[in-house]
Amino acid sequence: MKFKIALLPGDGIGPEVTNESLKILDAISKKFGHEFEFESQDVGGISIDKHGTAITEEALSKCIESQAVLFGSVGGPKWDDPNSDVRPEDGILKLRKELDLFANIRPAKVYPALSGSSPLKKEILENVDFIIIRELTSGLYFGEPKKRWIEDGKRYAVDTLTYDEDEVRRVVKVGFEMAQKRNKKLHSLDKMNVMASSRLWREVADEVSKEYPDVELIHMLADNAAMQIITNPSDFDVLVTENTFGDILSDEAAVIGGSMGMLPSASLSSIPGQIDSDAKPALYEPIHGSAPDIAGEGIANPIASILSTSMMLKWSFGLDEEAELIENSVNALINNGVRTKDLSNNNDYLTTNQMGDEIYKLIK
Ligand code: IPM
Ligand code: MN
Repeated sequence: MKFKIALLPGDGIGPEVTNESLKILDAISKKFGHEFEFESQDVGGISIDKHGTAITEEALSKCIESQAVLFGSVGGPKWDDPNSDVRPEDGILKLRKELDLFANIRPAKVYPALSGSSPLKKEILENVDFIIIRELTSGLYFGEPKKRWIEDGKRYAVDTLTYDEDEVRRVVKVGFEMAQKRNKKLHSLDKMNVMASSRLWREVADEVSKEYPDVELIHMLADNAAMQIITNPSDFDVLVTENTFGDILSDEAAVIGGSMGMLPSASLSSIPGQIDSDAKPALYEPIHGSAPDIAGEGIANPIASILSTSMMLKWSFGLDEEAELIENSVNALINNGVRTKDLSNNNDYLTTNQMGDEIYKLIK
């Protein structure tokens, strides 16, 4: 089969890790006879430097025309001036909005062989395997008004947290669909004790739960969840929450396993399992950012990008067997003690390129 992918390597370590994803896709195409067609587009700082904007209209339309988007990372100190009108992050925010990527899936998984690199105690890490579903196209990040102003010599700023019931419903449904395929337990996180938007969130979640009688819905306040995620992480299976809470909590969850360099993510514009012919392509990206401190050194861990690629094969292209082969290859290497620098406590580690090669060899 033939698949069309928009490739957006971005800044920092983005190009280094997405390069390894291409290597893995090459192995998959050789083994299974698929054809992957790529169009590479600028995004983030590199796009600002070349075109004056974090993503051009042309790059956006190439993404919309593709079947899936493979994204690296954006940002870096070069573009960090708080007074600048353009920011690398605008590129990913615009993509999320234009592609309607309302559900961001971020797995938090502990590889037993890596539990030594986790900041948490070993006994807390047993059986930790949950996913956070973060609402991605609304809430504080996009609400209007969003501005700064000066009145009577005093500086003010406002961001707005708005949700309509449809926005809540569709992402909560993703939570129920995922929970139904896993352990039939869904935590919905909010701050209904203070926020009106959270009260709407909770009300809608209760309504949707009637369509999924086999799934247990547990409401939890987001601040309590922040604590439970590090004290009792194995209690969770699927969590769903609004944009800002999800941004913060998913970073917290990502370090439980020891390294952010292992974790993939998917951003979807449709409810998995429901056929939606109008759905725009999904976007896959490693959870880690551009890591400017190690960019160009060839030591970044490519596994998060490679596992994002396997999520793409499974969710956007329905290539379950191919995706599983990638996951199993990664598992085998990790269990055999193969490490990149972020996972190693000595000088015995592979470069980005070498780790990609090892996975390639196992797949081929
Ligand atoms: C993330 C990132 C982004 C966000 C930035 C780059 C805009 O932190 O994907 O979590 O805040 O959503
Ligand atoms: Mn974030």
